[in-house]
Amino acid sequence: MTIIHISAECYPVAKVGGLADVVGALPKYQNSPDITSQVIMPFYNNKFTKENVFTTIYSNQISLGNRLIDFNVLMLKEKPLDFDIFFIDIPELLFKDYVYSSDDTERFLGFQIAILDWLLVWEKYPDIIHCHDHHTGLIPFMLQESYKYEAFRKIPNILTIHNAQYQGWFPHLKVGLIPPFNFNHVGLLDWGGTINPLAAAIKCAWHVTTVSPSYMEELKLAANGLESLLSSESDKCSGILNGIDTDVWNPETDHYIVKNYNIKTVKAGADANKKYLCDTFNLDFEKPLFAFIGRLVGEKGSDLFPQVFKQALQNNNINILLLGSGNPFVEEELKTLKNDYIGTYNAYIGYDEKLSHIIYAGADFLLMPSRVEPCGLNQMYALRYGTIPIVRSIGGLKDTVIDISKENGFGICHNNVSVLEITKAIDRGVALYENQSEYKKIRKSIMEIDHSWHVSAEEYIKLYKSIN
Ligand code: ADP
Ligand code: GLC
Repeated sequence: MTIIHISAECYPVAKVGGLADVVGALPKYQNSPDITSQVIMPFYNNKFTKENVFTTIYSNQISLGNRLIDFNVLMLKEKPLDFDIFFIDIPELLFKDYVYSSDDTERFLGFQIAILDWLLVWEKYPDIIHCHDHHTGLIPFMLQESYKYEAFRKIPNILTIHNAQYQGWFPHLKVGLIPPFNFNHVGLLDWGGTINPLAAAIKCAWHVTTVSPSYMEELKLAANGLESLLSSESDKCSGILNGIDTDVWNPETDHYIVKNYNIKTVKAGADANKKYLCDTFNLDFEKPLFAFIGRLVGEKGSDLFPQVFKQALQNNNINILLLGSGNPFVEEELKTLKNDYIGTYNAYIGYDEKLSHIIYAGADFLLMPSRVEPCGLNQMYALRYGTIPIVRSIGGLKDTVIDISKENGFGICHNNVSVLEITKAIDRGVALYENQSEYKKIRKSIMEIDHSWHVSAEEYIKLYKSIN
């Protein structure tokens, strides 16, 4: 069975968030003697493409409306990844130093058309086309409706929704950019009067998955306008929890962290990483360290951070360290706060892969007060590194973290996203930290929880077989 994953991000090539981690790991865990799982992604102008050598395996032009645009398909010449990866190089549209921007309609439509044009010349078509998020959402529609791609009608395709907040909307005026199709079916593209690639994919894909079972249920109630669509299509929808790449995220071998460790050596290992963080960010090693890593957007509850941090630092003897970027207003507030809490609070505004690993290893608690969290990988990384997650029970967080008050509980959960509830959850963390024997017991137990991809990768394979 040949599977192709189509995505805008894939670790280690280009990463904005968890989508990259998933697409960079799932194919590796799907590959077996009977299964070839591959990735197709855009060729960006970034560190990875600068540092690697590529060969061109195909060149042609796509029609985007009335423009003819050159494209190439590239492969890595040396240093292969653990799975085959193909790059769609459209210099005019995709070769930029960013992944997402305001001109994404043309960029990702060009990407999707180039992929299908190239697939037309494949000797043997793939058995499954697996699309990820709205940037690839017009593929299920084009496979079903565009005259040019009639040969693909029988290829089963799947859409995985990593985040339904973003849907890729564009006006009907641009419908001419899509290769000609039966115009009687133009309604498949529409949701609420505009072209909505995510909605079109939900309608046309053979199956739709979300990245956790709870998120699937939540989307039927709140999906940024797509609730009724997801309810009416629910027969072909299911939730499959993401896994984590336990080769990359392994405290015993992680080359980013200051000192490696395992369950037996966690105290010394975590302490060395915490010491590095405290020295680097002028924090107090003796106090518990609460950290946040992520995008500073409303979904993550980040607009409340300035208030929450002030309150928590006033109430308790703790450190807080934040790594993230996003909303410029929140960024500014978080920077300003540094002056008021020198020695117990710090923030690195930006993106830093290495630092994120050291924080998972060195922090005592990881904060995730998300308003929306389709899956969330951070809490699973934290668990593997022995850092206790403090989460709002929603989406994948609800599916992966059990509160310490419950049987076999190991995390701290709260139900609402408010300054009061988040600070109360931090207070509970402080109380747990003060009970060092209990804290240490939990730290060891969470490192043993298995969130590796093996189970979920297999679930996807079963799903492919069921629709093939
Ligand atoms: P989302 O995809 O919604 O951002 P996830 O929890 O699925 O959330 O995944 C986020 C991924 O991005 C994790 O690998 C996390 O470590 C990483 N990440 C987020 N922000 C940063 C940052 N500022 N620096 C380094 N890594 C980050
Ligand atoms: C999205 C979601 C996040 C999820 C990730 C990977 O970015 O916001 O919750 O973990 O995709 O599926």
